[in-house]
Amino acid sequence: MKRGFHNKLGNISLITGGSIVLAMFLLLSFCCLFSPAALADEVAKPEQIILSWTSDPLTSQTITWLGADDSLGQLQYQAKSSFNGSFDSAQQVEAEANKFDSRYYRYSINIRHLTPDTDYIYRLGKEGCWTEPYSFSTADDTDKFSFLYMGDVQSGYLGWGRMLNALYQENPRLRFSLLGGDLTNNDADEMEWGEFLDAASGVFSRIPLMPTLGNHDGTMYKNFFVLPDNGPAGLEQEFYSFDYGNAHFVVLNSNNNCNEKAKQWLHTDLQNSKQTWKFALFHHPAYPASPDYKGIDQSIIANWVPILEQNRVDMVFVGHQHQYMRTHPIFQGEIQSDLGRYGIIYVMGNAGAKTYIPGQGFPYIAREDSGSNYQLIDIEGKSLTLTAKRADGGLIESYTINKTLKPAPILVPDAGKIVGQPVKLNFIDDADWRLAINEIKLDGVALTPGQYSLDLPGKITIAGELFSSAKEY
Ligand SMILES: [Fe+2]
Repeated sequence: MKRGFHNKLGNISLITGGSIVLAMFLLLSFCCLFSPAALADEVAKPEQIILSWTSDPLTSQTITWLGADDSLGQLQYQAKSSFNGSFDSAQQVEAEANKFDSRYYRYSINIRHLTPDTDYIYRLGKEGCWTEPYSFSTADDTDKFSFLYMGDVQSGYLGWGRMLNALYQENPRLRFSLLGGDLTNNDADEMEWGEFLDAASGVFSRIPLMPTLGNHDGTMYKNFFVLPDNGPAGLEQEFYSFDYGNAHFVVLNSNNNCNEKAKQWLHTDLQNSKQTWKFALFHHPAYPASPDYKGIDQSIIANWVPILEQNRVDMVFVGHQHQYMRTHPIFQGEIQSDLGRYGIIYVMGNAGAKTYIPGQGFPYIAREDSGSNYQLIDIEGKSLTLTAKRADGGLIESYTINKTLKPAPILVPDAGKIVGQPVKLNFIDDADWRLAINEIKLDGVALTPGQYSLDLPGKITIAGELFSSAKEY
């Protein structure tokens, strides 16, 4: 008679009769290896730990994890500078358990009132069943920092995890990562989520992961991630924004790109930000690398791009088409080839194993590449360097933007002007640019100071007497 044991070692068969000694040996070995205490210790520790932010990165840290039972919600943390190997003097907080899938409970907690620019040590679980110590760092109020962008994962989780661990080892300066959606292929598949989180937690238990929703993401994504709650009412966490250093990040759900409430929120959110850099992250490209037969690109161009342009977003991170692409700067549908002219640069990434063949030849594409890749973004004041690399670390390209070259402002005539009326031009105010105005021309003729006024912030008014007939000026 055979009896099977299914455990981490696979099947072990105990055979009656002449093999009793062997059977006793195997049984004793099994009991030692998998006694209830050992099982609790080995199996029940929290795992799949992912950091994110739900409030200010300067003073807070959100930690999310899974546990095999509902008793693993304790978190202990303390500043690394005072950590001597013991958590005896650590702060302790407790998260509640929520059922995540058929096996796991999900826990999440946001630690507040932390000190900026400080390293912390933490562990998760409960008395007698703690994880090893992990660490995170709060943000500092800096204009010099680096972050990572990755496009779709969707398949090839093991390879993605290897790439992620290797790139983080090579680039320990990275402070967080954006992830462009389609984290798994089948959002309802627990196995895929297990593989994704297993691959992700090595790095993202140390630096935060800020994702967006792709067309493959759904309930499991929403049940796992905890993200800023500052989006439009009813769409919180699908739309959100945060600041890090001198940059503002706005994250949008491109499956829902026609929503009027979200458009209003996007405009207000960007308008309220005075950060040097503005970035947007969403899944579907506005400017595709290959034809978008569903027309989502046109919908995003109609609904979001004017708002992004009007508010001077610098770079947009997208995914969905499984290749690397960087566009030239684009403004109002035109490629901006003159150095210093404003336009949005769109960056498409692809971190997983699924790949499309590039080569459509769209004129706005400045650089493209096939395969799995990642992007490093280094910011130093008004300078940004984007470094795109293949999964093996090989360089695709390095591209720098220098904002000290002042782009021309966007001039928007007020609607409803008529002959003989003053024309008001609005521009996105920029103190450096405003102070540099020394001449305004109308029909190629320089105006005298009495013919126009410069109203702060961001308005030029040209006298109505100059518009004596209906024509294009
Ligand atoms: Fe997609």
